[in-house]
Amino acid sequence: MVDQANQLRERVMQKKSKKERRQTRTIAVTSGKGGVGKSNFTLNFALGLIRQNKKVLLFDGDLGFANVDVLLGRSPKETIATMLEKDLSVWDIIEEGPEGLLFISGGSGFNELFRLDEQRMDKFFKELSVLQGVVDYILLDTGAGLSYENLRFILAADDVVLVTTPEPTSITDAYSIVKMVHAKDPNVHLKLVVNQCTNDKEGHDTIANFQRVTEQFLEKKLGALGCIPSDGNVPSAVKKQSPFLLAYPHCDASQAIHRITGEYLQLPVPYKLGLKGFLLKMLFK
Ligand SMILES: Nc1ncnc2c1ncn2[C@@H]1O[C@H](COP(=O)(O)OP(=O)(O)OP(=O)(O)O)[C@@H](O)[C@H]1O
Ligand SMILES: [Mg+2]
Repeated sequence: MVDQANQLRERVMQKKSKKERRQTRTIAVTSGKGGVGKSNFTLNFALGLIRQNKKVLLFDGDLGFANVDVLLGRSPKETIATMLEKDLSVWDIIEEGPEGLLFISGGSGFNELFRLDEQRMDKFFKELSVLQGVVDYILLDTGAGLSYENLRFILAADDVVLVTTPEPTSITDAYSIVKMVHAKDPNVHLKLVVNQCTNDKEGHDTIANFQRVTEQFLEKKLGALGCIPSDGNVPSAVKKQSPFLLAYPHCDASQAIHRITGEYLQLPVPYKLGLKGFLLKMLFK
């Protein structure tokens, strides 16, 4: 276990001189309604970023549900919860997925995070902040809805991707998230992704309508990364426990992920808290 963790640490930190330290940026992926495709999006977006030569760590923060593990057909023994319980290092709980994707599972009991005693909170901060400068992006797959925990993640991240489908129920719930987040902090960088669209027109219309409503009622111009079609290869890949970007690299959903990744990477990066800022804001604010 210790050897394995050391090997992973050495491999990840390899060739990383001070000059090469990465600008770690945190991205929370959330939705109003559950089951809209957040976990599939997060995993495949992570792989899309890796294809663009980025180093990515995926953090499964969906409290109680080990979504990403299931999508990858993995069941990590160690999680954030056991790291705190057994006094492990962060390297003991990082798993290596396909294409060099790193991932951490929250584990059951992770929802206790915001109720930890000071000593455990410090341990969590100390261990996680080691990753600052080591990866380019930390993607956080959050739960759906407006729970206290979700809001903490959203308000602490550098970017927030809000996933919705074109269905009115999903849009209404997504709008509630925007309203709540906007009330807490109007500077949060929310970016919309519309998943499971019948066609491109439906996706683009959904984005345009959503942007119009937020502009009209909140005076907020909501960013958008694009839309993903409804694609039968997605559930097929889920059944195979393989990310669709790898199982069906040329399918419509995979092509959409590449477009969205390209769109994300060319956005200006106006401000950045980085990982330490994220942890401080999430834990102590
Ligand atoms: N673009 C798509 N085309 C077809 N099916 C999709 C698409 N995206 C997701 N799905 C299907 O929708 C279901 C839910 O996806 P996923 O688990 O990613 O959602 P989620 O938002 O993470 O759910 P939860 O809120 O429960 O965590 C899956 O069965 C998946 O196969
Ligand atoms: Mg999920």
